[in-house]
Amino acid sequence: VKPESVSLSPLGATAAPEQELLCIFGTGDFGRSLGQRLLQSGYKVVYGSRRPHSCGPLPMGAKVLSHAAAAESSSLVFLCIHRQHYDFLESLAPQLKGKVLVDVSNNLKKNLYPEANAEYLQRLVPGAHVVKAFNTLSAWALQNGPSDANRQVFLCGNRAEAKQAVAETATKLGFSVLDRGSLSAARELEDFPLRLFPEWRLPLLIAIGLSAFFFFYLLIRDVVYTYVVQGKDISFRIMVSLANKVFPIVSLIMLALCYLPGIIAAILQLYRGTKYRRFPDWLDRWMLCRKQLGLLALGFASLHVFYTLVIPIRYYVRFKIGAGIISQIKENRTSEFDNSIAWRGDSYFSMGILGFCLFLLLGITSLPSVSNALSWREFSFIQSKLGYLTVFFCTFHAYLYGWDRFLRPSTYKWFTPPGYMLSLIVPSLVLVFKLLLLLPCVDRTLTRIRQGWERCDPE
Ligand code: HEM
Repeated sequence: VKPESVSLSPLGATAAPEQELLCIFGTGDFGRSLGQRLLQSGYKVVYGSRRPHSCGPLPMGAKVLSHAAAAESSSLVFLCIHRQHYDFLESLAPQLKGKVLVDVSNNLKKNLYPEANAEYLQRLVPGAHVVKAFNTLSAWALQNGPSDANRQVFLCGNRAEAKQAVAETATKLGFSVLDRGSLSAARELEDFPLRLFPEWRLPLLIAIGLSAFFFFYLLIRDVVYTYVVQGKDISFRIMVSLANKVFPIVSLIMLALCYLPGIIAAILQLYRGTKYRRFPDWLDRWMLCRKQLGLLALGFASLHVFYTLVIPIRYYVRFKIGAGIISQIKENRTSEFDNSIAWRGDSYFSMGILGFCLFLLLGITSLPSVSNALSWREFSFIQSKLGYLTVFFCTFHAYLYGWDRFLRPSTYKWFTPPGYMLSLIVPSLVLVFKLLLLLPCVDRTLTRIRQGWERCDPE
């Protein structure tokens, strides 16, 4: 049998396309990394420099000319210099006329200047078409190529053709482009790199606020109370016992806070009879930080699990067990096995373990690399249905832990309820309202509203 022959021919045009020449002003870290990336992606690169003969090492294959000569040789110029040094560009106005000028600059602080760098540049060189782009990438990200966290290039500019040219280059370098509109969006793009975990701020504040509140609340209830009433110093308990109350309490409340805004939104939709009215801003903001709230809550739950693991090896616990046995021997008595204590202990452990494992699943599936691999239906099944199940297990864990303690007057030291009771308020509300929303008549109306149906209120 004759082997089949395959004729190989180059992809696309028969002749190799002419390499496009791009110009870079600035030979700092960013300029060098950008040049290297452009060369690797098949462009020719020319640098514009004040001192073309002594500007330090540049990527292999790049040329260096004076600013004017470099600008003349290319239709697209990347400006990799600081805003303070833009003045000289005014004198290059003739060479830059009609050229696309890419402003990659950033500032060290917000609102340092009255106008955005890119708008200032457009005012200096009105004949050029300024595009703001690449400023959210670091030199490091350019050198290493696009990765998950650094895949996007935001751009904005007043001329569509100019943006198109920059977008094509960015795409060729392997980035995905997000057009943010006209040059008036430049300030917003310039503020992007200055943001420090903005979507984490509110969840972090909630976590710190709740932790501080419960720490002092439990410190007074447990340590100070025992010192004042019984004259005993049990301050050593701050390190493990108190921590192992604060962390699970905060975790449970924050987990419930992830699901509360969804409940409030559903109630609002039912009340308004439509899904076409905007939610209040605070609810929108709350909904947008649910993932961060959940991940922090998972962190706190993990701390609770670690603290729980060390309970058997604590000196205080071993001492108490030993002292108990010795006193039984001395008094010649044996304590009876209590079935209900065994049931109670095992049940709340079991609920805690189930809750924690589901909690881990929620956390893992909220990571972009995992959630991207799930369909929307799979994602919402895990985050919503299994999410409520997680709230249920963890809440039930705390109820079982409390058991009949709420009946004993000694539980209410200085007339205050114990921490775990306070931690049960929000999750219990979430679960009760969720059950109400699941009632067939309520669920049917909500589903219709979410499919676009609107209730016509009589005027
Ligand atoms: C209390 C175990 C997961 C919330 C406790 C206690 C233990 C325990 C031993 C009693 C601590 C003490 O005596 O001071 C476990 C185990 C878990 C788990 C083994 C999983 C492997 C969770 C999760 C949550 C949670 C995921 C909530 C998000 C609570 C709460 C308390 C508690 C609120 C009451 C704290 C207090 O005020 O004393 N858990 N737990 N637990 N746990 Fe868990």
